Amino acid sequence: MAVALENKKCYEIVFEESFDALAEEVGKLFEPDCRFLIFTDSNVNDLYAAAVSAALKKRFQKVFIYSFPAGEENKQLSNVSEAYRFLIREHFNRNDCIIALGGGVTGDMAGFTAATYMRGIPFIQIPTTLLSMVDSSIGGKTGVDFEAYKNMVGAFYMPKLVYMNISVLKTLPARQFSSGMAEVLKAGLIRDGRFYTWLIEHFTEIMEKEPSVLQEMIYRSVNIKRLVVEADPYEKGERAILNYGHTLGHALEKFYDFRLSHGECVALGSVAAGYIAFKRELLSAEEYYELRDMFVPFGLPISVVDLDIGAVIRLTGSDKKNDAKGLKFILLKDIGKAEIFRDVTETEMHDALKELESTL
Ligand SMILES: NC(=O)c1ccc[n+]([C@@H]2O[C@H](COP(=O)([O-])OP(=O)(O)OC[C@H]3O[C@@H](n4cnc5c(N)ncnc54)[C@H](O)[C@@H]3O)[C@@H](O)[C@H]2O)c1
Ligand SMILES: [Zn+2]
Repeated sequence: MAVALENKKCYEIVFEESFDALAEEVGKLFEPDCRFLIFTDSNVNDLYAAAVSAALKKRFQKVFIYSFPAGEENKQLSNVSEAYRFLIREHFNRNDCIIALGGGVTGDMAGFTAATYMRGIPFIQIPTTLLSMVDSSIGGKTGVDFEAYKNMVGAFYMPKLVYMNISVLKTLPARQFSSGMAEVLKAGLIRDGRFYTWLIEHFTEIMEKEPSVLQEMIYRSVNIKRLVVEADPYEKGERAILNYGHTLGHALEKFYDFRLSHGECVALGSVAAGYIAFKRELLSAEEYYELRDMFVPFGLPISVVDLDIGAVIRLTGSDKKNDAKGLKFILLKDIGKAEIFRDVTETEMHDALKELESTL
């Protein structure tokens, strides 16, 4: 059964358990003579590109595949250029469409290609990782890394449709699944305490990838992100709460030279931010310890070794500040309620990172 969220920003998010309804959903938006480029990475190409192509060919004749080598290190302009060459060679124009089939790397890069080729051609997201389903495919941020800088070049560009086939999560490696769970837990922590409790109650079914539970979990996470993004699409204010756990999380990601996954660093950053909130008496000790310990059953870390705390704090850019008002740091005022703070000190960050080192 398809569950669709009607998004005021003009696109639908469809939840399915196969690619069977894809041609019909896409057919609502595009004429039969439309050309499609399935933009995918090498792993997902082997797993799902043929199935997506076959599903589309029920209604559309011209379906092409462009694949790049999987991995964050390939989220680069050179692969976008390669895709432009393909599009030009096949005479793609603004009536045609790019389909991002893959995780966040694919979605960001395919979306950026779509945003910029001929000043913008339509695109569709088919996210295949948990992280891309609950996070990167929603909200219209696209882009690539530039030299050593992550997501330095990009555009806000909305897809025409997000089609989620939840059954593809069966092939997702456990570590990738856990990485996505960090963003799911974050969604509950920042906006919906009841959802957070529901996640804790259903952790066995979630980790066993029970389809109906996964569907509800993804639906509720997406809805939280959607509501936050709709209220502030260009991140002028409240959208920043989605960065809960990310200030220290991103710094840890860089410090460990990307050997830890994004979600693992978000979990650690969330624990550290939880500790700061606990010390400020925004959270009780009980709330903090529960927040911390609940990452564990989802396969996420809550402690670190070999930390150079000073180096991590420097990597937050707190010395440079995000803008004139000071570093934006997201804290919980309650489980399910996040707020932007501008006064988190380096000492507080230091103590929180120290706590990560001392947690068993
Ligand atoms: N645009 C946004 O708002 C936003 C938000 C969060 C993260 N991001 C970006 O997302 C990226 C991370 O996304 P990700 O974690 O999905 O990484 P990813 O796209 O690299 O996917 C992770 C790995 O899983 C493989 N894979 C994908 N689907 C699979 C499946 N169903 N079965 C088996 N293997 C599969 C991929 O080939 C890859 O090796 C980062 O570049 C980050 O900057 C963007
Ligand atoms: Zn994130």
